[in-house]
Amino acid sequence: MVTEERVKELLNPVQDPHIHKSFEETGAIQNISIKEEKNHVSVKIALANPNSAEQMQLQQEIVGMLKKEGAATVGLRFTELPDEQRDEYMNEANQEQEANLIGQTGTNFIAVASGKGGVGKSTVTVNLAVALARLGKKVGIVDADIYGFSVPDMMGIENRPQVRGERIIPVERFGVQVISMGFFVEDNSPIIWRGPMLGKMLGSFFKEVEWGDLDYLLLDLPPGTGDIALDVQSLLPSSKELIVTTPHPTAAFVAARAGQMAMKAEHDILGVVENMAYFESTLTGQKEYVFGEGGGDKLADVLNTDVLGRLPLQQPYDEVEEFAPGVYQEDHPTGKIFLSIANQVIRRCEL
Ligand SMILES: Nc1ncnc2c1ncn2[C@@H]1O[C@H](COP(=O)(O)OP(=O)(O)O)[C@@H](O)[C@H]1O
Ligand SMILES: [Mg+2]
Repeated sequence: MVTEERVKELLNPVQDPHIHKSFEETGAIQNISIKEEKNHVSVKIALANPNSAEQMQLQQEIVGMLKKEGAATVGLRFTELPDEQRDEYMNEANQEQEANLIGQTGTNFIAVASGKGGVGKSTVTVNLAVALARLGKKVGIVDADIYGFSVPDMMGIENRPQVRGERIIPVERFGVQVISMGFFVEDNSPIIWRGPMLGKMLGSFFKEVEWGDLDYLLLDLPPGTGDIALDVQSLLPSSKELIVTTPHPTAAFVAARAGQMAMKAEHDILGVVENMAYFESTLTGQKEYVFGEGGGDKLADVLNTDVLGRLPLQQPYDEVEEFAPGVYQEDHPTGKIFLSIANQVIRRCEL
């Protein structure tokens, strides 16, 4: 006859499949009762995520274990761990997964997303990264816009990453570590990627790259809500998202979809950046709202967040020495707006 102690001893080391913690650690075993006359064992177990495929498998394993110990019949009931405990464990598990991916802990992942292309997503990724670096942060960029990679061109990067042993060393520019699909393509020729290859590619951008110690890793996502966005959500479950839109109401409406997808995946939304918000005449200082008004506010409203900055239509200064056509200089009006956005990002991520 199996005893209560024996059941505990057997089940304590079993792992909760979603959080990689043992039943002993989570206090999962809530009740054990044994009916001696029928040799029946019943156990009530609290899991982080019951009603999953993993739970079904676990159930079979536990029934098998207890029958092997002599129980004639086994009854299992599953319930959910208290929300607070569950969230804490899920967070820990997510961070562990991410730390394994890039080989260190403590990095903030920020995915930059938009509803459609051409709204300035790459411009925001690159300049936010440079601004964070100007503020003393250790920053990396993954140019995950596999078809539309443009980060190397914008930053004026001409060299290619070095390979050391089995690891790829990112290219550093303006104090930012950069990896882009563009580094692995000959002569700008198009590549046809299929779904599973995309995810693998993205995985390699983390795992096979020697990122070193990073405070922030920014991802320039492809526009819209496609496979890559999904891959990012499963690879980097605690990534935060920054949504870029133009002020046009329809653009904001399309961007809301990308934001809502992030929310569904329980990604925090850091905020909205409104790009091409206005044109300011250098002659009169008058602002003209050439692409309409209100898109950023509307989007922030829908996503229950804030507009972190509004960027005017303006090119970086021409620069002969450090050619980087998409990087605004520190003393450029737009460069200053990016410093302000970076400070808000730091506040939201680190405090
Ligand atoms: N605020 C701006 N003022 C002037 N040109 C801009 C601005 N933002 C983006 N651009 C230009 O618009 C084009 C599209 O921007 P990009 O950042 O590549 O968009 P996305 O990555 O969303 O496709 C680029 O040529 C870029 O230099
Ligand atoms: Mg882009």
